[in-house]
Amino acid sequence: MNLIRAAKLTPVMAALAVALVLTILRAGERDAAADGVGAGRPAAPSEEEVAAGASSSERLYPVEINPGPETPTVLARLDGQDRVARVACSTCHTTRAPDVSVRSAEALDEFHQGLTYRHGDLSCLSCHNSENYDTLRRADGSSLSYPDTMMLCAQCHGPQYRDYRNGSHGGMTGYWDLSRGPRRRNHCIDCHDAHAPAFPKVRPVFQPKDPGARQQLERAQQQTEHVDHE
Ligand code: HEC
Ligand code: HEC
Ligand code: HEC
Ligand code: HEC
Repeated sequence: MNLIRAAKLTPVMAALAVALVLTILRAGERDAAADGVGAGRPAAPSEEEVAAGASSSERLYPVEINPGPETPTVLARLDGQDRVARVACSTCHTTRAPDVSVRSAEALDEFHQGLTYRHGDLSCLSCHNSENYDTLRRADGSSLSYPDTMMLCAQCHGPQYRDYRNGSHGGMTGYWDLSRGPRRRNHCIDCHDAHAPAFPKVRPVFQPKDPGARQQLERAQQQTEHVDHE
């Protein structure tokens, strides 16, 4: 009797197990497809592929990442001109030799005063491309455009970038399940200033809005004060 039941159950269970494994594999593919973060990386699918749900028949919503910075310009008064104009970085920097030794704002006395800079002991030219100041620089010396700044951060902060791709750093709004709706991610520079990236130490400041909870809190504070004065 038991043998017969086991013989009947086994194929059913095997089929269930196969179905489960397939579901897990497909979910994995979907997560990988949804993670369209690595702009410029061959492995990451384009946002269109993500929107199309890549190979799966189910249509998935896109993951959108806030754009990186635009190529900056500065306000400057150029030689022989009275008016102040917005100019590209290269306007001046093609005419002066790059200085790799600059690694603090205090070292700047001719121009760029007032810049806040606290990012380890990095030279400005670890990130700014001495060959073309309208672009950034990768560690291998190749250039990177400003909108691709995330890949600049990623090359030195691998663990945080990995966490970001996993969704455990950097926050998101929208849906985890992309079959239900789109997801929006912040860019590193939405939260971290590229020149002074340390995050201020966070501490909770708000008191509970719930009146009952507030009364409890006040009571607890009074009691602590009593203890303090004793
Ligand atoms: C009006 C001219 C001018 C413009 C425009 C300009 N710079 Fe500069 N930059 C300077 C001068 C002058 C220095 C040297 C300052 C000093 O040493 O006191 C400098 C220094 C620097 C340095 C330090 C390293 C080095 O080579 O000296 C960096 C990095 C830099 N600039 C980036 C930029 C970027 C990025 C832009 C565009 C957003 C820009 N600059 C636009 C004039 C300019
Ligand atoms: C960690 C990489 C990194 C380092 C190091 C770095 N920068 Fe930048 N810098 C950036 C990025 C990225 C931007 C564009 C950021 C943005 O627009 O929010 C930028 C923008 C600028 C700009 C234009 C916007 C502005 O703030 O005026 C200037 C000028 C500049 N950098 C100068 C410097 C100088 C001078 C140093 C060294 C004292 C330096 N940078 C060091 C990454 C870096
Ligand atoms: C060339 C390598 C390099 C690049 C590129 C770079 N960083 Fe950094 N970053 C560093 C170093 C070095 C430190 C200092 C680590 C320390 O002092 O412990 C640092 C520190 C930090 C910190 C921690 C600050 C603190 O004091 O807690 C943050 C946040 C950070 N970087 C974010 C960024 C972001 C965002 C970008 C891209 C705009 C970026 N970094 C680009 C090398 C880099
Ligand atoms: C939603 C805001 C947000 C975004 C987006 C974000 N970070 Fe952070 N990051 C933080 C906060 C908050 C901390 C401080 C955590 C702490 O103090 O415990 C932090 C800390 C860091 C640190 C310091 C080391 C650490 O883990 O404490 C680095 C490096 C860093 N972030 C890099 C990045 C990079 C690279 C990106 C983009 C891929 C990024 N962050 C995107 C909020 C953000």
